[in-house]
Amino acid sequence: MHAPLIAPSILSADFARLGEEVTSVLDAGADIIHFDVMDNHYVPNLTFGPTICKALRDYGITADIDVHLMVSPVDNMIEAFAKAGANMISFHPEASQHVDRSVELIKSLGCKAGLVLNPATSLSVLDYILEKLDYVLLMSVNPGFGGQQFIPHTVEKIQHLKAIIDDLDLNTRIEVDGGINKNTISAVFEAGADMFVAGSAIFNAPNYKQAIQELKQQLK
Ligand code: DX5
Ligand code: ZN
Repeated sequence: MHAPLIAPSILSADFARLGEEVTSVLDAGADIIHFDVMDNHYVPNLTFGPTICKALRDYGITADIDVHLMVSPVDNMIEAFAKAGANMISFHPEASQHVDRSVELIKSLGCKAGLVLNPATSLSVLDYILEKLDYVLLMSVNPGFGGQQFIPHTVEKIQHLKAIIDDLDLNTRIEVDGGINKNTISAVFEAGADMFVAGSAIFNAPNYKQAIQELKQQLK
């Protein structure tokens, strides 16, 4: 059993004060930082690139940075983010021409590798690659925007994936992303997820410490 990790998505942070915002959520009990990279091509929105990741490292952030690539193609960004200080890099299989090659690239650069499945993407895309992954990120909203509603069928999907991982005796983590808040987190935790991305539920709260505690309280 993996220790559960709370991963605030900086997508909902105040970008004008990003260094302070990341420091605040880490001081408030966040475990890792979730970094949503959007290219206005794979998803209809545009966020930030490796320079911002490097800027957070230069600012003194030492926590693990969990980069979620919503870009196509992916390989150039994998290399750039590994150099910029990312520890974990995930991408969507339909955004890469050669999924196995992209996974190998992430690992060769010393980062943990994850594959991201959209709400309507079947778990069968994990055939022939699951053994190589450190984690699978299951989207519980369609990618592109923060603050969307959790899609309930994700719970069943997590249960299926957990059963597959256990059957194969693997150590793969399950991350869940989208619409996670104090009302939705316990169902995904019980289903088998162990990394929890939360953007609006943390950054839109008046008190980050209280918001993170309210999430962690459900993980028992
Ligand atoms: C959506 C992103 C998510 C999103 C989560 O494409 O991958 O990380 O920011 O935001 P909330 O927690 O507000 O749904
Ligand atoms: Zn994300």
